Amino acid sequence: MSRYKNIMTLDEFTIQQLRLFPHATGELSGLLRGIGLAAKQVNVEVNRAGLADILGAEGTINVQGEVVQKLDVYANNVFIDVLRSGINCAGIVSEENEEAVIFDDTRSNASKYVLLMDPIDGSGNIDVNISIGTIFSVYRRVSPTGQPATPEDFLQQGIKQVAAGYVIYGSSTMLVYATRRGVNGFTLDNSIGEFYLSHPDIRIPPHGKFYSFDNCYYHQVARGIRRYVDYCMSVADNKAGPYSNRYYGCMVADVHRNLLKGGIFFYPAVTGKPDGKLRLCYECNPMAFITEVAGGKATNGKERILDIQPKHIHQRSPLFIGSAEMVDEAQRFLR
Ligand code: AHG
Ligand code: MN
Ligand code: MN
Repeated sequence: MSRYKNIMTLDEFTIQQLRLFPHATGELSGLLRGIGLAAKQVNVEVNRAGLADILGAEGTINVQGEVVQKLDVYANNVFIDVLRSGINCAGIVSEENEEAVIFDDTRSNASKYVLLMDPIDGSGNIDVNISIGTIFSVYRRVSPTGQPATPEDFLQQGIKQVAAGYVIYGSSTMLVYATRRGVNGFTLDNSIGEFYLSHPDIRIPPHGKFYSFDNCYYHQVARGIRRYVDYCMSVADNKAGPYSNRYYGCMVADVHRNLLKGGIFFYPAVTGKPDGKLRLCYECNPMAFITEVAGGKATNGKERILDIQPKHIHQRSPLFIGSAEMVDEAQRFLR
């Protein structure tokens, strides 16, 4: 008997989805299983971060020039090792690696998928026991299978994503992932190490009460954005407002809350960061894909995120993401 009556595990769910496509090979289900397995390993480490020597900065600087936390390195290695030893991924682009990691062995070369990821999002939160996440994005290769993946495989428009998801290591650990068919959330039962389908078919409310923006940048953003922040806080102009401000310093946590409750997250261009902070390929695109499938929107202020043709795997992009009406509302101030 199942531990929870009528509730599917992650594996059961992906296999059930697979059966809907008579010609499917099961490779995507296999890849998601690998991601789930890696996430469980990272979860164990996250939970004992305070005890183990894994807490705190590693001391090196990553390719973005930011301090690398030990858990970032650990999670990066876990995801790469798990997927390299599997048969469903030809290579990985990670925030923590300057270049794409191409697996280049017979099994991996035969795979039609590549993965892009932010192994730990919100790493500044590790030391203080606040939510962190993992973000991932899956593409079908444009290069032929049977040979190593190529740089072009990783530089596709977000709209081409086959699947995207995140893991949130919060008060409970959840894996949320989207394919074109829908967004589904799975909560980890720590006692037996299984993800259970706890949030089927997630739809983002068209409007919400939350805005997530690092207010310290108020004086460093464009005038339109300042006016939008004023609007968010306004009692008189904003009939639905004032909105509550929620900002964790972990986009995964902020976007997750907004996905369930309704809201907007934005990280625009600020002084000294003309493209904002977030990385297009493994932060903005996957979150934009999930949000759009759930019925929300994501733009860089001018253009839909998923339409942008990436030029570099580590490029940054401004991001406005969340409930459709709120993103539209923000856009009106940007014009
Ligand atoms: P990462 O930990 O992968 O570097 O990403 C952190 C990101 C994002 O999750 C968060 O919203 C933002 O950086 C916080 O930046 P600020 O401190 O500039 O607000
Ligand atoms: Mn991040
Ligand atoms: Mn990171």
